[in-house]
Amino acid sequence: MVSKLSGEALEKLQALNNQHVIDFVEKAIALCKPEKVTVITDAKEDIDYVRNLSLANGEEHKLAAEGHTYHFDSKDDQGRDKKHTAYLVSNPVDWGMDDVNSIDKSAGITEINKIMDGIMKGKEMLVAFFCLGPTNSKFSLPALQITDSSYVVHSETILYRAGYEQFKSLNGSDEFFRLIHSAGELENGVTKNIADRRIYIDLEDNTVYTCNNQYAGNSVGLKKLCFRLSIQKAHKEGWLAEHMFLMGVHGKPGRVSYFSGAFPSACGKTSTAMIPGQTIVGDDIAFLKKDNGKVKAVNVEQGIFGIIKDVNGKDDPVIYKSITTPREVIFSNVLISEGKPYWLGMGVETPDSGMGYAGPWTKDSDVKISHPNARFTLRINELENADPKANDPEGVDLDAIVYGGRDSDTTVPVAESLSWEHGVLIGATIESETTTATLGKEGVRTHDPMATLDFISVPLTKYLTDHIAFAEGLTNIPKVYATNYFLKNAEGEFCNSKLDKKVWILWADGRIHGEYEAIKTPIGFIPKFEDVKKLFKDNLNYDYTEKEYLDQFSLRVDAYLAKMERMEKAFSKIQVPEKFQAEFDAQVSRLKEAKAKYNKSVISPYEF
Ligand code: OXD
Ligand code: MN
Repeated sequence: MVSKLSGEALEKLQALNNQHVIDFVEKAIALCKPEKVTVITDAKEDIDYVRNLSLANGEEHKLAAEGHTYHFDSKDDQGRDKKHTAYLVSNPVDWGMDDVNSIDKSAGITEINKIMDGIMKGKEMLVAFFCLGPTNSKFSLPALQITDSSYVVHSETILYRAGYEQFKSLNGSDEFFRLIHSAGELENGVTKNIADRRIYIDLEDNTVYTCNNQYAGNSVGLKKLCFRLSIQKAHKEGWLAEHMFLMGVHGKPGRVSYFSGAFPSACGKTSTAMIPGQTIVGDDIAFLKKDNGKVKAVNVEQGIFGIIKDVNGKDDPVIYKSITTPREVIFSNVLISEGKPYWLGMGVETPDSGMGYAGPWTKDSDVKISHPNARFTLRINELENADPKANDPEGVDLDAIVYGGRDSDTTVPVAESLSWEHGVLIGATIESETTTATLGKEGVRTHDPMATLDFISVPLTKYLTDHIAFAEGLTNIPKVYATNYFLKNAEGEFCNSKLDKKVWILWADGRIHGEYEAIKTPIGFIPKFEDVKKLFKDNLNYDYTEKEYLDQFSLRVDAYLAKMERMEKAFSKIQVPEKFQAEFDAQVSRLKEAKAKYNKSVISPYEF
């Protein structure tokens, strides 16, 4: 076969002086058999080329506002396909978790080679270079993306730092992630052969094969697919790759503390990072490394692929303004009418008809106006609330880590851990009700350690051991907080408004700076009523009542004990690290003692 790699494309690749790059591209060409190969560098004209290609080939369409475009995924490709996402491993691995798919590598490679053979016939292959983490930094992790989807590369030019130049500093090494994607055959611009959708991650070769999909959680390899490879790399090298936002918290004028936070998908991570008055570094994935006794953290990305449902001027004013102002934004799976996007919970009057993710839509349709997992994609550095250090190659000094889940009946809105190890226990025991970010049933309570269950690529024991050990040698250990935005009261109503998260984060910030005393309870330190009341008044102009405080911060001891029983079962499959077991046992004893002492299922904070 005559190689498709010639002329400008070949020259651009040769300029990288890296035979591993050329070999990988040749391999992808031999497999996918594209009509044409185009190499995308960091140059503006290359990036413009991709953006225009998406409009020309119908993967995206213009909206009325300058820079806004929209894209649809197949109605059957609206979330991460966990069922068809698998690790390829040569030897079986005991992951210690039920939910991890792994298959025999050679069988997986045979299957994927069959599905992807000639998958790009008649299509253009794009070869693009990105960098996870800031460029020219000890965090930089180069990744090579091959795809026939200009929407994928366009999204990546928004979401990730350009990496062509970074590849030059590899000096010929093979320390980069490799991604091959094909949207497969398209019908009306969307993937047709959904039954052949596969997302295979070869942990031994740092290579991802993904095909017959467009939804960015499945197709944009730089996001959750590289994240899985990063977790394995972090484990081998002694740092942490986490499903965490990163933000600057501005508790007082002139003061900034940096927080990271892990929440399962669609549980408030982006809206925490975008709390009014604070600054955003990143909203989804962070790398954490130790440096001279401190924790340094960076955003792996430079953009947001955020859930648009319920983004409205009242609940998420900063995000709403960002996506309704002219700038480069891709809307996906929303309703389009007269050049404008509409979505669920937008808080404006919506049209009676338009084009939706499942085809032409009218208000009498069975499907909703937009998919609950519909998204927006934009660049962080264009936002008014972008943190000045968002792209700092040194990273930011991490002061606190927040964990949260969608928990209607147990966890208090905010509690500070008793120690680093207790913080690891808090993260490792996150439980959350499933959302539309993944295909499958919604609302099922799932154990989601560090909100990373879907992405953990090392056995759970090793992952927990890494977390416990991370504090070793640190002189500035970040404080750790449990949060819960989804607690309901006895009447089954949410205890909190969506804006309240600002109060919990500011309380945590005040604790870091020694401003608040707290009540020590079996599950950690919780706020005092007067402090929360003042924070509500000062920040939200809201008169917070004692009844609300008692509803939210009374210790639901029976529910916590039931949770710990579920957790005991979950961890019974693995040999947990000793320090972790000690924390676990201590928490159960504290809860049992409180239960025995007060003999109530719900204990008022004033008892402690
Ligand atoms: C995401 C996810 O899109 O976690 O960030 O699904
Ligand atoms: Mn995520």
